[in-house]
Amino acid sequence: MSLSQIGRSISESATLKLNETAAILRAKGEPVIHLGGGEPKTKPPIDALVTASALLNSGEIRYTPADGIPALKKAVIRYTEEFYDRHVEPENVICSGGAKQSIMVALQAILNPQEEVVYPAPYWVSYPEMAKLCGALGVPVYAEDGTFYPRLQDIEQKVGSYTRAVIINSPNNPTGAMYSEQFIAEIVEFCEKRDLWLIMDDIYHRLIFDGRKPINCYRFAKDLSENSKLIVVNGVSKQYAMTGFRIGWAVANKQIMKVMTNIQSHQTSGPSALCQYAAVGALNGVQSSVESLRMTLENNRNVLIDRLKTFPGVKVYKPDGTFYCFADFSAYGKSSQKLAQRLLDKVRVLVMPGIEFGLEGYLRISYCGTIKDVIEGIERMKWVLDPDAPNELYIGNRKLVRDW
Ligand SMILES: Cc1ncc(COP(=O)(O)O)c(C=O)c1O
Repeated sequence: MSLSQIGRSISESATLKLNETAAILRAKGEPVIHLGGGEPKTKPPIDALVTASALLNSGEIRYTPADGIPALKKAVIRYTEEFYDRHVEPENVICSGGAKQSIMVALQAILNPQEEVVYPAPYWVSYPEMAKLCGALGVPVYAEDGTFYPRLQDIEQKVGSYTRAVIINSPNNPTGAMYSEQFIAEIVEFCEKRDLWLIMDDIYHRLIFDGRKPINCYRFAKDLSENSKLIVVNGVSKQYAMTGFRIGWAVANKQIMKVMTNIQSHQTSGPSALCQYAAVGALNGVQSSVESLRMTLENNRNVLIDRLKTFPGVKVYKPDGTFYCFADFSAYGKSSQKLAQRLLDKVRVLVMPGIEFGLEGYLRISYCGTIKDVIEGIERMKWVLDPDAPNELYIGNRKLVRDW
């Protein structure tokens, strides 16, 4: 069949496929524990639901401006003032179908075919595919010291004449690493000096632990004029547990916003009116759900880390934020894909293979579900992997017996 080169080069979203696998197994009555997902299981804020319901009841659900409704832009402007101490105009804001679309249209506005976008590894699964969708190339940067915290020198070495942009995601999916203020300051300064676009993917910036505070990248920018190439991306998916609403946004200079809006207008038009109103409700409403989610995640992280540390041979790195832990399971096999498949086959626990994020031998374990799932999931994993585990395991009233 004749299909485009770009079309054929794009791989399926590993995370979305995993969700599908879990759903199919669950529909068959299998006792799946999903530690692979990327969405909090708490309810969205009531203000989001009430605001969306009011619009739904009115029946007036129409097309919206391609870059978002004025009420949502206003809420994003207020958010930017609160968290970034920066005043922007409505023309500096685009609201999209998730932060994912904001990043995608930003890359489409920036990258020519063959050009490059650089980002630290391990990286979010979509960055390389988004670059490919532009006919461009994603360039992962591995920290030379083997940590999850790259240094400016590591990035610098990968920046060449084809590089047009850098993406920084902190705290990071999949590692949970939050980069230091010094690193953010250095990267902002470096991108300004080298005239590179800098996309700050701040989607997890409020979900951070141990008393950390979100880092405001604008503090380190020398150029805050309309020539600034800093693009800050955020959204409601993670912090408000509103993944299904598909609302995210970007803030940047007016010129790129116009181009991103033109692109988005031909892709999807403006995001769904209903979902934009829900996002307005979340952003303008009572904020306690964010802190309560953050505290739940911090507790889940602590429990997960304590239990993971009891696995012989597993190297655990304490996440600074997000709801992912990226642990080195290479002691149990070279292929993370095979290991993840084995855990699913043997004990119906779903985790993400590290290779999808650019690092073999690791597993990404999500702790955004219930604490019960985290504890039971880890227990089941341990039963499969620990040679000293008992011969039998009960899942509900199903008895499993080791056959390896
Ligand atoms: C690092 C990162 N950026 C962006 C997104 C996209 O979020 P949204 O649901 O707003 O499209 C995700 C979602 O998993 C993510 O992990």
